[in-house]
Amino acid sequence: MRQAVCPGSFDPVTNGHLDIIARASAIFDKVTVGVLVNNTKAGLFSVDERITMLREVLADLPNVEVASFSGLLVDFCRENNITAIVKGLRAVSDFDYELQMAQMNTRLSGIETLFLSTNPTYGYLSSSLVKEVAGHGGDVHGLVPDLVLDRLLDRFGENPSH
Ligand code: PNS
Repeated sequence: MRQAVCPGSFDPVTNGHLDIIARASAIFDKVTVGVLVNNTKAGLFSVDERITMLREVLADLPNVEVASFSGLLVDFCRENNITAIVKGLRAVSDFDYELQMAQMNTRLSGIETLFLSTNPTYGYLSSSLVKEVAGHGGDVHGLVPDLVLDRLLDRFGENPSH
């Protein structure tokens, strides 16, 4: 069985992430979405909230599961029989750091990293920009799943339905 991980912070999950995860799930037998627990960086959402949102929006993909991890990604992969890391590449600005991480991870464990080119619809999209725009009352509809949009509006006290 071929197993891959899509790792990240997912604070929160965007439609760009979902596109990469869905495409990875069509290539691999099983995909684990690995949510990094980063004790040095407080997110907008807790890791539990991020996982709950991910599980809800990925419920229709039967070969995808969501888990958290801390420490090195390669150790998480080894413990879970994961043999590939799948990541989206948006623009050349992503490339340097992603290449560094991919090469370090291969050096550490021999694991392969596969890059999927981001759907151009989401080329400019990032969780950070979504938070910044939503935090200032901008419209992020269509950039995140509707349930994430709802929770962003709740978090920023802008939800008209509540
Ligand atoms: O969504 P992000 O924050 O860009 O994801 C970055 C992530 C989680 C993929 C990366 O920081 C990571 O793999 N962290 C785990 C710690 C680790 O293995 N570091 C060495 C990387 S070579």
